Amino acid sequence: MINVAYDIKVYRQVLKDIVKEDDVVVELGCHVGNSTRIISQLAPRGKIIALDKGSESKEKLDQLDKEVETPIEFINADVRLHETLEEVAKKVSAIGGCDVLSVDLGGGYHPDTTFKVFYIWSSTLKPRETIIRNRGLLDFIHSAKGSETISSSEGWLESCRDDGVPPNLKELKLWSPKV
Ligand SMILES: C[S@@+](CC[C@H](N)C(=O)[O-])C[C@H]1O[C@@H](n2cnc3c(N)ncnc32)[C@H](O)[C@@H]1O
Repeated sequence: MINVAYDIKVYRQVLKDIVKEDDVVVELGCHVGNSTRIISQLAPRGKIIALDKGSESKEKLDQLDKEVETPIEFINADVRLHETLEEVAKKVSAIGGCDVLSVDLGGGYHPDTTFKVFYIWSSTLKPRETIIRNRGLLDFIHSAKGSETISSSEGWLESCRDDGVPPNLKELKLWSPKV
């Protein structure tokens, strides 16, 4: 299932609804770990890989890792870069795959980067559930009218199958079949 929210309370409630106790969760845009702490309570027998490109995260996430039962690995990186996705894809494949992908990059009303990051990360990691926090995407979902029904039930657009990762599009250096 692909879930979209904007209000932080709704986003955290969705996390409570979808994260199971032994899930591997990849969290893109963890900031100082306020939602990471909630995820750790929901997945005490799982693992969290949390990423953020900002400078405020590392100390807080390392401290949180010491406090909670769930192992938390923080990666200070830009999630738009192919090498970041490649590193995480290798890590999650070594531990049985990604169950839940969370994408919260901020940016309020500008959903384009968020959608691209969701699309390439979810097409690669193939999570059971994805939660995206973005106002523009939520607005689009409720404002657009579709004339045909094409839908997916996993946490990625699996109806596209592997056609979903076009190797000829190099935008953001993310579109690659290498992983
Ligand atoms: C709204 S905050 C996240 C809040 C957090 N998820 C929570 O629930 O408390 C957005 C975060 O996304 C991070 N971010 C934005 N673009 C990013 C990118 N391209 N790569 C990695 N982190 C990014 C920012 O540094 C910021 O910390």
